[in-house]
Amino acid sequence: MIPVNEPLLGGREKEYVAECLSTGWISSSGRFIDAFEEAWAAYCGMKYGIAVCNGTAALHVAAGCLDLKPGDEVIMPSFTIISCALAIVNNGAKPVLVDCDPDTWCMDVSQVESRITSRTRAIMPVHIYGHPVDMDPLLALGEKYGLKIIEDAAEVHGAKYLSGRDSASSRWLSCGGIGHISAFSFYANKQITTGEGGMVLTNDHVFAEKARGLRNLCFRKDRRFYHTDLGNNFRMTNIQAAIGLAQTERIEEILRHKRWMGKAYEERLRHISCLQLPVEKPWARQVYWMYSIVLRESAGMDAIKFAMRLQELGIETRPFFIGMHEQPVFHNMGLFQNEHYPVTERISRQGLYLPSGIALTEEQLNSVCESVKKALT
Ligand SMILES: Cc1ncc(COP(=O)(O)O)c(C=O)c1O
Repeated sequence: MIPVNEPLLGGREKEYVAECLSTGWISSSGRFIDAFEEAWAAYCGMKYGIAVCNGTAALHVAAGCLDLKPGDEVIMPSFTIISCALAIVNNGAKPVLVDCDPDTWCMDVSQVESRITSRTRAIMPVHIYGHPVDMDPLLALGEKYGLKIIEDAAEVHGAKYLSGRDSASSRWLSCGGIGHISAFSFYANKQITTGEGGMVLTNDHVFAEKARGLRNLCFRKDRRFYHTDLGNNFRMTNIQAAIGLAQTERIEEILRHKRWMGKAYEERLRHISCLQLPVEKPWARQVYWMYSIVLRESAGMDAIKFAMRLQELGIETRPFFIGMHEQPVFHNMGLFQNEHYPVTERISRQGLYLPSGIALTEEQLNSVCESVKKALT
């Protein structure tokens, strides 16, 4: 079976982890926490990094920094993982959805302004499957309406966005370094992994201080075990950070492999007319987190059937997200009832992603492509 993902820990990971074990710094203090936070924030062009135990916690902490109140609203895409909606709901606010773009599968930014009300406090763009969201229109809405931008960059380590593309002062920015506050996941299928792990980035020192408190039970500096706010234990361990630092040292090599993979899949699959392949907009440098494909109607089957055929041929896949508006758990909470987002609904039924790990070889990739062709006939 060719696995959908296999991490490659081929740098100084072992050496750094061995240092944690031999020095006894195995918990959430130690030199690797600071070093990883600094290295990752610097790589993404942000001032402060706050390492946490996973990407879901990073989103929770990022949303927590905004002091959301009951009745406040945050606009987010329907097509994403539940962690995004969870961060909003668990901070007492209400998620408000928009559909996704049929080409990039990211939030359709043209739908956002019509969803803004007097209760809107923030917008949460989610960069999907390696491709950036078109951020400039969201930043402009943020300015116009006084909203914060919480960027979910879990899937786009190393992706770049061309800001100001119609102006003389255009510049490439790192995803996760664009909004007021951003969240990353370092789960084992991410470009950079710490096994489980996450990070919040921001340029705002008030948010950074708040985020450090929220990940650490809101302990006060002036009086231990005396609490004026509620936080969680969302701390990352020094061992995880040691792996993260070693991975960050190799990020360019990892991204080169991802880009090679994306282009190689494209070359081999682009002639198959019933497949929609990932795009790379001129204003984006996409990193092919997972090589994702959508079956057009002419394929005559949905992604579940296609995945079963591929499984029989020894190829592991994963289905696309199911829209937030189709989640019974939210309907039971009175959210998103009778809402429809046609692009999300179509791609969530017709989309899946192919083996895309850092360890994927050309031979395996060729075999996946042959199997894709077979499974479609
Ligand atoms: C877009 C997005 N946001 C958040 C998360 C949550 O990250 P984690 O699994 O580390 O909690 C994921 C996980 O894959 C994700 O894809």
